[in-house]
Amino acid sequence: MPVQSVERLTIERLTADDLKSNLGDIQGGILEEYETLASAYVFYTVETPEGGRDWLKSLLDHVTSSADARSGHSPKQTMNIAISAFGLKALGVSEESWMSFPHVFREGMAARAHRLGDTGPADPAKWEGGLGTADIHVMVNLTGLDAASVDLWRQQVSAAAIEYGVKQRHVVEAAVVFDQRSGCPAAHFGFVDPISQPAIAGLDEGHPGDGAREGNGWRSIAPGEFLLGYENELGEVTATPTPHSLGVNGTFIVFRKAAQDVGGFRKYLKQGAMNLWGKDDLAHQEKMAAKIVGRWKSGCPLALSPDQDNPELAADPNRVNDFDYADDPEGLKCPLGAHLRRANPRKSKITSAADVNRKRMIRRGLEYGPPLPEGAPDDGVSRGQAGMIIVADIELQFEFIQAEWIQKGDFIGLPTEEKDPLIGANGDGGQFTVPGADMPFLFDIRQFVTVEGGEYFFAPGLSALRGLANGQYSGD
Ligand code: HEM
Repeated sequence: MPVQSVERLTIERLTADDLKSNLGDIQGGILEEYETLASAYVFYTVETPEGGRDWLKSLLDHVTSSADARSGHSPKQTMNIAISAFGLKALGVSEESWMSFPHVFREGMAARAHRLGDTGPADPAKWEGGLGTADIHVMVNLTGLDAASVDLWRQQVSAAAIEYGVKQRHVVEAAVVFDQRSGCPAAHFGFVDPISQPAIAGLDEGHPGDGAREGNGWRSIAPGEFLLGYENELGEVTATPTPHSLGVNGTFIVFRKAAQDVGGFRKYLKQGAMNLWGKDDLAHQEKMAAKIVGRWKSGCPLALSPDQDNPELAADPNRVNDFDYADDPEGLKCPLGAHLRRANPRKSKITSAADVNRKRMIRRGLEYGPPLPEGAPDDGVSRGQAGMIIVADIELQFEFIQAEWIQKGDFIGLPTEEKDPLIGANGDGGQFTVPGADMPFLFDIRQFVTVEGGEYFFAPGLSALRGLANGQYSGD
């Protein structure tokens, strides 16, 4: 494992200029997407602090850094470690350090269910595998080239953990699902994803649209929005827990396992298209799907091509994200309430005083369950997204977006009760406004995504992980 110089870690204010020299201390998969194709999210319960720390020590040499991931010969298998608030306690972290973590992290995702809209079928009482309970201490994310090799490795890691009194509590296996048409990574609903990820200052310039709007161009977002110890968009250092070395180069991971009702989604497209335009042929179903997401399945944004898909535009990284909605205040091209526009409103007029450049998130994760081929009847098989949202501030970024933008409508001039049509808790019938359609209001949109479990995790920098393993932050 690369060793970070002590001087660097004591710097209280890291900036974009420091980022590249810190990549050896930042866990891999945060700032970059691995090129591996399969993944296992393995959740462990630690029985004793000593056992847990010794177990971490045994794993340290296997943990992949961002520098490893960017080394030019991308690793064929990767391991990364993140710890829940219950896990920090189980590892014996001192009360002072523990209390210095943000309160929403310490409470855990299940305790925040009401704010997040995780109610009804997504109620934490129904979550699987102990997710959301005090049993989930450590998430080990393994990735590899195929499901079989990842599973073999997972079995080895879990078997070795037992001798430290660490037990595998749950596992979610996931893989890249490829879009049948474009061959690009896609979500089960059939949309190319991800496309839009924040460009991070000091790392790369990204493509037009990835960063923050500046004049007619774009600039990268300050690293402190995604990493602890760095300057953020306000020019302030994102708070780190105590001591500083525990937080620096670390971040928070919001893990959410979200089931996708692919059969229900496809069925609804027909019904929704008929209600909006009085036609339910394939072209209108595709249009209905695009209105829900804000992109055509190819990834082509409605903001740039509202009336028809443009696969050529979708394939051009310099164009596919280069829009800001400023020319579409009424949502005639891209509905105000489309998933994409809610999750990143760019230059849309919003009523809340939020700074959109401080509401960005890195999205990672893969799909679980087998794809449902186009045209196949619903098979009732469980499938969805094992998603990781990476942010420096869970409350200001993920929770704000989920609670205020995904589960409500008023921030963008829609009725409060109107929720995200793709991932909102729409129960048996939610509202979706599609300006410009013959009948622009739908009142029967279904719930297509249901959270089956999740947790907030802290992904320490590699030096901090070693410190945790060595008992450097322990109270005993
Ligand atoms: C099963 C659940 C989900 C599915 C199927 C889904 C699907 C998609 C798709 C197809 C895109 C367009 C591709 C792209 O622009 O990168 C997208 C973008 C995005 N989604 Fe989701 N998503 C899900 C959950 C979430 C959640 C929980 C959040 C955050 C609360 C979120 C935030 C975003 C953001 C920030 C973007 C990019 C917006 C932009 O920068 O323009 N998504 N999602």
